[in-house]
Amino acid sequence: MTIDRNAPCWCGNGKKYKKCHLAFDEKIKAYELKGYEVPPKNIIKTPADIEGMKKAAKINNAVLDLVGEKICAGMNTEEINTLVHEYTVSHGGIPAPLNYEGYPKSVCVSINNVVCHGIPSEDTIIKEGDIVNVDVTTIVDGYFADASRMFMIGDVSEEAERLVRVAKECMEVGIAAIKPWGFLGDIGAAVYEHAKKNGVSVVIDLGGHGIGKQFHEEPFVPHVGEEGDGMLLVPGMTLTVEPMINAGDYEVYIDDEDGWTVYTEDGSLSAQWEKTILITETGVEVIAH
Ligand code: MF3
Ligand code: CO
Ligand code: CO
Repeated sequence: MTIDRNAPCWCGNGKKYKKCHLAFDEKIKAYELKGYEVPPKNIIKTPADIEGMKKAAKINNAVLDLVGEKICAGMNTEEINTLVHEYTVSHGGIPAPLNYEGYPKSVCVSINNVVCHGIPSEDTIIKEGDIVNVDVTTIVDGYFADASRMFMIGDVSEEAERLVRVAKECMEVGIAAIKPWGFLGDIGAAVYEHAKKNGVSVVIDLGGHGIGKQFHEEPFVPHVGEEGDGMLLVPGMTLTVEPMINAGDYEVYIDDEDGWTVYTEDGSLSAQWEKTILITETGVEVIAH
């Protein structure tokens, strides 16, 4: 299909197509003809989409700030769920995890050897020395924002503190590797190299994802890979970078009773940070953190 060069651009900013995204679309087409994997058009965001995601991110960021103020030893993770749920709903958002593919709560809280998708419960008590990932995703007007942070409860071991720091660095180097007209594999290559250098491992079964009007859209974002491999990255794509970093081996398993909670196979500690980012003409803009 070709779009009339004089018709308004698909991005909705009011300019004629020929003065707006025509050259962009042709550049992507040229990569595709050379055999590169290119992003499908429906994952490239318009300015209106980006505004929508930023609104969701505003609540999402505030929820994580609030959790950071309140989280402490002695709390159970159901209390974190209540905090997240009530703040989100009272500010006009919807907690995306609730009922997502049958997930029963409004947030994921993953402690120590839990890699991700920990289900809040009154029976799970946060204790001194724990490292806790809180992963929050918010929907506003149909747009999603997704981010997670680690919280260290009181005095934690040196090993735990180091893992939390290295995991954060892994996310940061992954984001720093993203360039418009670069490739998806650049992210995983950077994350993996940083983890390897620090003697920790990268979970491969789970990864980041495209995000927008859906929680998880194309592409899957691996946190291992080769520079220059995989999908072409172009301005207007929105992705999460969220490496799960284990102190021991990379293998994980899912709790067969609840069907969600992911644990390290060897019982070692795991840490994760997540941001939602936008690829721009010149680099990257953080949307949710
Ligand atoms: N927030 C997670 C992510 O980063 C997904 C959680 S799915 C849920 O992709 F159902 F467990 F909430
Ligand atoms: Co998340
Ligand atoms: Co995510």
